[in-house]
Amino acid sequence: MARVVLRQLSKRFGEVQAIRDIDLEVEEGEFFSILGPSGCGKTTTLRLIAGFETPDHGRIFFDDTDITDWPPQKRNIGMVFQNYALFPHMTVGENVAFGLEARGMESEEILQRVRRALEMVGLAGLEKRPAPQLSGGQQQRVALARALVIEPKILLLDEPLSNLDARLRVETREQLRELQRKLGITTFYVTHDQEEALTQSDRLAIFFDGECAQIGTPHEVYTRPASERVMAFLGQANFVPAAVQSRDGGEITVRLADGWFLRLPAPDGDIGPSLRLGVRPHEVLLAGEAGTDAPQARVVDVVYNGAMEEVRLRVGELEFRAVRPVRAGQAPLKPGDRVPFAIPSEAISIFDPEDGCRIDSGGR
Ligand SMILES: Nc1ncnc2c1ncn2[C@@H]1O[C@H](COP(=O)(O)OP(=O)(O)OP(=O)(O)O)[C@@H](O)[C@H]1O
Ligand SMILES: [Mg+2]
Repeated sequence: MARVVLRQLSKRFGEVQAIRDIDLEVEEGEFFSILGPSGCGKTTTLRLIAGFETPDHGRIFFDDTDITDWPPQKRNIGMVFQNYALFPHMTVGENVAFGLEARGMESEEILQRVRRALEMVGLAGLEKRPAPQLSGGQQQRVALARALVIEPKILLLDEPLSNLDARLRVETREQLRELQRKLGITTFYVTHDQEEALTQSDRLAIFFDGECAQIGTPHEVYTRPASERVMAFLGQANFVPAAVQSRDGGEITVRLADGWFLRLPAPDGDIGPSLRLGVRPHEVLLAGEAGTDAPQARVVDVVYNGAMEEVRLRVGELEFRAVRPVRAGQAPLKPGDRVPFAIPSEAISIFDPEDGCRIDSGGR
């Protein structure tokens, strides 16, 4: 097992700057995800760690050793590729054994290691099956066994569940996480699926356009996003403009709409006359939860999905969304209703309207 450090890592392919100045420190045994939209540089980062690409700038360390110039086979890395591509003309056992044979290991030891690796991923006894005869989920686990069989220090997983249907994806993801915890192996997990990254990571990095926008625990990046773009990418969000009315020591008063003012902790440093506020819909409190003398909003639309009510609200010229759990004793809202609402100040992220970066240090 190893700690992995990337320092100022950059890679360009012709005109395309695939990644720029990436700094990451991933602890031994950590499950670390890289999350971002297509083309943001996730696979490139993994290929640099594995040694299949050479960086233009920057260094890579495993523990305290600079391995930037080491060839891939010396790095002791297990990788599951984006299109997990098993060799179709081989059996399951031959697929898993491939990396060991390439290392010139004795055949008895290979057999034992293959058996252990298949046991680990829940496919014991399937050595002799032709690989194409397995289901998608089973093939995925063969690819994982093939990566684990070399007993790597570091595991690199590039969208390893993307070929599975929704149910199998959740099941395989849970098994994968359990196995990773048991083996304590430092793992990089690449995905463009925010739910996948939030549910299973110890920490994650969010990439946009080859740059790292934020690193943190799932809770940190979800509740304290570094920019509007991160907040929008991680889940539903309302973004509303706010005009600063006054500043009073540690607090500011902002106007959101006619008759709707909020007092918020003042961001550090200078702020302009206008701000952008970000609020997750589930943070908006409605009706009895909003407290006494709360302002009122008009219900524009309600989508009821059994467990949750998604409500579109209007205050003056401003529209925003709220989501609340459905309770048996609670009257459903309907369009035209007027409903008291409140937004706790700690649930509000304050962004600079020019560059979309977070400027408040408060919150959770
Ligand atoms: N070998 C290459 N030659 C030229 N351009 C490349 C090469 N590899 C990657 N790129 C470009 O670098 C950028 C980052 O690619 P990368 O594969 O790292 O993205 P990604 O985040 O893995 O995307 P996806 O989610 O679609 O897999 C893209 O613009 C891509 O087209
Ligand atoms: Mg990719």
